[in-house]
Amino acid sequence: MSELNPVRIAVIGAGAMGRNHIRFVTEEPEAELVAIADAFEGARATAEAAGVPFYTDPAQMMDEVKPEAVIIATPNDLHLGVAREAIKRNIVPLVEKPISNDLEDAQAFAAEAETAGVPVLVGQHRRHNPFVNKAKEIIESGELGKLTVSSFHYMIYKNDEYFDVEWRRKKGAGPILVNLVHDVDLLRYLLGEPVAVQGMQSSAARGFETEDSAVVNVRFADGALASMTISDATASPWNWEATAREDPQYRPFDADAYFIGGTKGALSLPRLHQFSYDGASNWHKPLQMEIPAVDPALPHKMQLKHFVKVVRREVEPVVTPADNVKTLTLLNAIKEAAETGQLVEL
Ligand SMILES: NC(=O)c1ccc[n+]([C@@H]2O[C@H](COP(=O)([O-])OP(=O)(O)OC[C@H]3O[C@@H](n4cnc5c(N)ncnc54)[C@H](O)[C@@H]3O)[C@@H](O)[C@H]2O)c1
Repeated sequence: MSELNPVRIAVIGAGAMGRNHIRFVTEEPEAELVAIADAFEGARATAEAAGVPFYTDPAQMMDEVKPEAVIIATPNDLHLGVAREAIKRNIVPLVEKPISNDLEDAQAFAAEAETAGVPVLVGQHRRHNPFVNKAKEIIESGELGKLTVSSFHYMIYKNDEYFDVEWRRKKGAGPILVNLVHDVDLLRYLLGEPVAVQGMQSSAARGFETEDSAVVNVRFADGALASMTISDATASPWNWEATAREDPQYRPFDADAYFIGGTKGALSLPRLHQFSYDGASNWHKPLQMEIPAVDPALPHKMQLKHFVKVVRREVEPVVTPADNVKTLTLLNAIKEAAETGQLVEL
């Protein structure tokens, strides 16, 4: 533990994710939970249980409690209104992903945050997964050679009752826009910035207005390619949720979701199996597999440790609003490509 005082953090939006953040903050020695704000009176009990003041108005909370930092876990379309109130007061926000559903507003906010000079961290927590960061290190070291083809899978089965809520059956509520933000963020982080995408989508499994399945091809400037297989109507283990052991509500399965390949080797995630030949690559030689040593840690907790350092101005945020704008831009391009069947250049 450092000699500095714990960073005073308030959580805004005490729903499913906000309650996780509340727990992480109370468990982190370098952080102190100082207040909870939620528009819904029912969340008062959460604040009482945590022994901190409760507010229904986030701005009033910020004025009275004066936290150094806030974690914003409201619904997506409310993130930026609250984040603007925070940076106006020089309070450092961690904004849950995606920073907004509205790309233009996200772009405007990224510029405002930059001008205000207040660091903002976006909650793409998988960036703090030690296995992901080790994979990034391996790729950047050149051990895999020149990247050739990779495949990222989000193949999962959402329970049928999930769709009893009408909006979840409507256009735009399918897995591309609702679930893929983490996978797209990691695709960019690990492989670089794509220059073009093409795709197809289908709603044949569930028959709803929105897609239940899609396939997408991605091209990078140096000629490397990647594909993404996306479906919330596929009973399979090949998705990050089931394989990464980050969230206990998904039953763990020993498998991988991402496969990254190059001329000298390949690796899969999240298990981080690394494959290579002894010497020159040659399909007739025995392929070797190793599992690089990594200390496991819960990404959300690592994210909070990083956030504490961001608030103390010790490090720059690993995911800034401007970076998240790039993820949202790619996500929108993927949606457009899958919907229209056209090649979308970025
Ligand atoms: N990183 C992750 O692992 C992860 C996982 C799940 C959700 N999320 C993100 O967290 C955010 C919240 O998702 P959730 O599933 O917890 O939703 P939720 O609906 O369970 O919770 C949202 C909460 O915000 C409150 N709220 C609404 N308007 C408010 C306002 N104006 N001021 C203060 N509070 C307000 C609601 O009353 C509710 O308690 C979303 O952005 C979502 O994308 C992130």
